[in-house]
Amino acid sequence: MPTNTKAKETLTPVDENREVVVTLIKGDGIGPEIIDQTIRILDEAKSGIQFETIEAGSSVYLSGVLSGISENAWDTIRKYPTILKGPITTPRGKGYKSLNVTIRKTLGLYANVRPAKTYDPFIKTNHPGTDIVIIRENEEDTYAGIEHRQTREVTQCLKLITVPGTEKIVRYAFEFARSNGRKKITCMVKDNIMKFTDGMFANIFQTIAKEYPEIEAESMIIDIGAALLANRPQKFDVILAPNLYGDILSDIAAEVTGSVGMCGSANIGDFVSMFEAVHGSAPDIAGKNIANPTAVIKATVMMLTHLGKPGKAKLIRNAVLKTLEDGYRTADIFQNEKNTKLVGTKEYTDAILDRLGQNPTVLTASELVKPKSFTLSLSNQKEKKELVGVDIFLDIPEDRDPDVLGKNLESVTKEFLHLKMITNRGVKVYPKGQKETFLTDHFRCRFVSPNGGNIKHKDITAILTILESKGYDSIKTENLYEFDGVPGYSLGQGE
Ligand code: NAI
Repeated sequence: MPTNTKAKETLTPVDENREVVVTLIKGDGIGPEIIDQTIRILDEAKSGIQFETIEAGSSVYLSGVLSGISENAWDTIRKYPTILKGPITTPRGKGYKSLNVTIRKTLGLYANVRPAKTYDPFIKTNHPGTDIVIIRENEEDTYAGIEHRQTREVTQCLKLITVPGTEKIVRYAFEFARSNGRKKITCMVKDNIMKFTDGMFANIFQTIAKEYPEIEAESMIIDIGAALLANRPQKFDVILAPNLYGDILSDIAAEVTGSVGMCGSANIGDFVSMFEAVHGSAPDIAGKNIANPTAVIKATVMMLTHLGKPGKAKLIRNAVLKTLEDGYRTADIFQNEKNTKLVGTKEYTDAILDRLGQNPTVLTASELVKPKSFTLSLSNQKEKKELVGVDIFLDIPEDRDPDVLGKNLESVTKEFLHLKMITNRGVKVYPKGQKETFLTDHFRCRFVSPNGGNIKHKDITAILTILESKGYDSIKTENLYEFDGVPGYSLGQGE
């Protein structure tokens, strides 16, 4: 069923001073200090934002809660569904889950919006005039966190890309571009290699692009895309990417345009939205009054727009730009240039407070407009799905001779199904493999019907049973389906 993604928060910019309660997570490391400075600005700007603080992060992890967030915090978020969040330290090891990923996925924050813009000529950059927005899918891909160790030598991570998840982020990107006067979206994937997952993402992008003829829809392979972003970022306008690529691209964009300390981000869902800096908790500089608060202030500006307070957003944004024009610099962006002054976190904020109500003379930034809501329409539910084979993965710790394995498997399974091929790490090794191919203990054996056509689940069970009786360790099976006669599985390399 298509999901209806109509926004549930219908806020209009009628009364900019009205009170709104926001859930606050102060975070770890530099989190509390940059959040406290941001709150000073919100108060002075009479933004009408009140906070309900919840405990999440280090203190909760250390109390033994592996998710890093207490159960009752979810009720607060449900009551106050806009979150302002400082960065969180994810402790290494011991089964701790990333709180950032948990929040984004539990609350369905599917769109991660990360603008990155240069401040030339005031902050020197190799790429003047860069003004990019990265829109990153925020819930799927390898971030599903489904990983297994299957043999002594092989681990795997499942990369899940879904039709509704992709349609949602693609439509969001086009609506965002339309609402914000953006002219081009570049979709970056690796669909020359991952034809099903990334291929589907790219296809949905091109399908939906037809509904937005005024916006140029460009497709690019992620490797050259990332290289161009690092070297010629002015070329890009909006960049759309699945989760993992989007994460990497947005840090490149932040560094290319200045510093991670300068970029804010919004995590948008149908019910809840969360605003945060792109950077982490920076434990190396915590508590020293040297962190740059701009990233979290910019996230807060995005939050004010989202809450229907564009006037307050503009007031704060302009004061930040004027502060930069007047030469105030935290350490991460200080280049010792004429008419600039190195200041600490608090003094930088003081300078912003002094400039509330003033406008920059050169620097500009457009307020990010909330995109219109949309409805999902792509659905493949009517396609005919037929089971035509199975890949059975075997752990073969010793005697890894593909020809011997293939002949043995054929002799024990021929009554049930036909062994079509065996691969090792995706490369065909039987029949007729190449002697140079490196072999691990992880063999994929593809079985299909001897006469072509469909097979039954009981054929698979029969094969698994016979394999077990012959001493083989079947570590997983992957059914092979056709959808309206089109294979829904990749061929082996060399098949
Ligand atoms: P980081 O972003 O915290 O720090 C990277 C470098 O940038 C450090 O040298 C740091 O001092 C500097 N930096 C970061 N923010 C700055 C700011 N506002 N002003 C000046 N300099 C700044 O990344 P790192 O060190 O990889 O991660 C530290 C912790 O943060 C880890 O536990 C990680 O899991 C967590 N993290 C949390 C995120 C979140 O809560 N959204 C995002 C990324 C990392």
